[in-house]
Amino acid sequence: MSTIMCVVGARPNFIKIAPIMAALQVYSSITVKLTHTGQHYDAMLSDVFFHDLGLREPDVRLGVGSGSAVTQVAQIMTSFERACEEERPDAVLVVGDVNSSLACALTSVKLGVKLIHVEAGLRSHDRQMPEEINRVLIDAVSDLLFCTEESAVKALITEGRPKEKIYLVGNVMIDSLLQNLPRARESKILEELGVTPHSYAVATLHRPGAVDSPERFAEILNALETIQRDLPLIMPLHPRTRKNIYAFHFEERLAQMSNLRVLEPLGYLDFLQLNSNARVVLTDSGGLQEETTALHVPCITVRENTERPITVDVGSNQLAGLSCQGILDAYHRVQTEQFSNRAVPPLWDGHAATRIAKIIADFLG
Ligand code: UD1
Ligand code: UDP
Repeated sequence: MSTIMCVVGARPNFIKIAPIMAALQVYSSITVKLTHTGQHYDAMLSDVFFHDLGLREPDVRLGVGSGSAVTQVAQIMTSFERACEEERPDAVLVVGDVNSSLACALTSVKLGVKLIHVEAGLRSHDRQMPEEINRVLIDAVSDLLFCTEESAVKALITEGRPKEKIYLVGNVMIDSLLQNLPRARESKILEELGVTPHSYAVATLHRPGAVDSPERFAEILNALETIQRDLPLIMPLHPRTRKNIYAFHFEERLAQMSNLRVLEPLGYLDFLQLNSNARVVLTDSGGLQEETTALHVPCITVRENTERPITVDVGSNQLAGLSCQGILDAYHRVQTEQFSNRAVPPLWDGHAATRIAKIIADFLG
């Protein structure tokens, strides 16, 4: 009998872990446990996902909350060490690239516990991004590396990771999406917002590179201002972004955009219904670049780079940069070119977690 400790902390983690835990539970030789670090704690960034995805109550709650990256990582490491000493896992499984994933990865390797990384090898090659540092460090110490796309496999091999640790398995974010789309279709969010399919745009922003600098944030708002004159724009606000709107005194600017609806963050099912019916999505989110690709919804990525190049190569994603003109050019292409018939990447078929669970079960013997 082996015990795997799965780790979640921030919004995208819940969506990725749900199908993995379900697939692992099929194996009677594996006990699956769950730690929530508490990096995200607002009900609409955490609890709602447990409800929407049918995730069970965590076995361990570290309750670390917000703080500087150093404080957050340090506090998670000390608390997670205690949790591992009590729970004695044979392996720790982390997903994605948030601070919680890094902190638990480092703790696990320091304790000599096997480490599994799901969504390994993604590289923006931009060391200004906190997530890029997290990704590189987690991958350097992982025993099993599960990749969503071929570029990730190549990056890991270039970095000298042994081939036998690397598996191209597909995308657990898309497992969740395909599993939950029928339930999302029951959401009444479109009626509540008074919009009809393909007649509105959705925007989400939360990267420090986009919203922590008043100049850059203002530049993006210039583009959103023009776009909302053309198409109703719905924007569920991440708390980092909301905080900065007040800090930079942008409330008045937003209030003057008469076709912009600013909302609290939405739950998974409501948001899936909303983004899957959008005419276009503007975002700096990693997960949304993938979801729009699987849904064939045109996506404008408000960033200079992406660690998910396959979404641009075969999917419906455009890398627009952070300038107002770059975003508006990409928006113009959405109006004039065909993005909705682009392909879905190989293995993004809803069965990534099943493949991952089988490999883990063999690995743990
Ligand atoms: C984190 C991840 C990012 C991920 C994002 C998903 C890191 C380095 N960043 O960014 O990769 O894309 O989550 O959404 O791990 N806050 C609240 N309530 C909460 C949580 C946060 O109000 O429940 C506020 C706090 O003021 C906090 C700020 O949001 O300081 C930022 O939170 P944090 O978890 O540090 O980073 P995110 O921007 O959420
Ligand atoms: N999401 C959500 N509600 C929202 C905004 C996003 O459920 O109001 C979902 C989105 O569909 C995706 C995930 O949150 O599944 C992405 O999380 P986020 O953008 O916060 O993080 P990233 O993927 O950039 O790390």
